[in-house]
Amino acid sequence: MKTFTNWVDERLALTSAAEIAKKKEVPLHRHSIWYYFGGMTLFLFTVQVVTGILLLLYYRPSAENAFESVQFIMTEVKFGWLIRSIHSWSANLMIATLFIHMFSVFFLRAYYPPREITWVSGVALLFVVICFGFSGYLLPWNKLAFFATKVGTEIAGVVPIVGRPILRFLRGGDDVTGATLTRFFGFHVAVLPATATVLIGLHVMLVQLHGMSVPPSLAGQPVKKMKFVPNFLLRDLIGWILAIGVLAALAALFPWELGEKADPFAPAPEGIKPEWYFLFMFQTLKYLPAKIGMFDGEVLGIMAFNFVALLLFVVPFVDKAPGSRRNTLIFNSLGIVALLFILVMTIIGYVT
Ligand code: HEM
Repeated sequence: MKTFTNWVDERLALTSAAEIAKKKEVPLHRHSIWYYFGGMTLFLFTVQVVTGILLLLYYRPSAENAFESVQFIMTEVKFGWLIRSIHSWSANLMIATLFIHMFSVFFLRAYYPPREITWVSGVALLFVVICFGFSGYLLPWNKLAFFATKVGTEIAGVVPIVGRPILRFLRGGDDVTGATLTRFFGFHVAVLPATATVLIGLHVMLVQLHGMSVPPSLAGQPVKKMKFVPNFLLRDLIGWILAIGVLAALAALFPWELGEKADPFAPAPEGIKPEWYFLFMFQTLKYLPAKIGMFDGEVLGIMAFNFVALLLFVVPFVDKAPGSRRNTLIFNSLGIVALLFILVMTIIGYVT
């Protein structure tokens, strides 16, 4: 039974949420369009949670049943094909909006103090979202997913010292088997959602606490503001409705394929490629010579990618001088080189 104190606490919480919403404002300037991408990522994450729960009603996580259960979803369950296709398309769109969000906050320097932890929690979310993609890909237990997971976990395994234990931890043994599927299922529906919920909670709470940043390039100029409720939120809503339209169109016109059931004893298919968001790394590793000095080229490449990924966490602690022309030049150049590198390698990986 509710006590009077509970009742008072609830009213207070409601009042403060309403107060925050009433006070929240969004700066209006020529870069304001980028403020929509965080909200869009959040919306697509919600689509993932809802469609993922629906898929769970029929999905069976074992090497014997997984493929057949997804086949059943695609052919027998009413609108099952639509839910599965939306889940898969939305996962890909979410990774795309996440990259746009990350690069836009990078170029707008939204990580300057006091937003360092907002950035750090964002980088952690980037890794969680990529792990969502990698673990989800195996779940239908089809041929492509099986071999992509074999290659992906092998790549993790070549890192000196920690590689082998990581490979065994991911696979649940030496090979990709039913044990790997059970593990990936556990990561995908329990560990990652729990971690993402905590991180998104922290990320969004920090955004409320600090308000939206105004890019330092506009410092000293008068900046107009728009009320978040209802003006900006209604604009967000239009974007989300458009996203539903795009997802429905993609799912209806290009239903997500299932392919053939995985056969661990069959040879790997020719020209196997990872999902598009891993393609730039995969393509780069292909270009590296077998030996660089006394080191293995592939191992060096993988270590370099891991190093750059870790560097992302420290960006706000290295560049924390708003207005420094030297830093602006260095960090803009680094961002542009990284962006071009990812784009070019992804395109080459896609067309070759
Ligand atoms: C699941 C992933 C993510 C979600 C759901 C999310 C959500 C959001 C939302 C709703 C906002 C406020 C609106 C906006 O600025 O667009 C925001 C702001 C922000 N995000 Fe994210 N985000 C995610 C990932 C990331 C990543 C990968 C980074 C960077 C590495 C990042 C860094 C930031 C920063 C620095 C802000 C503050 C922007 C400002 O004050 O101008 N976020 N995020």
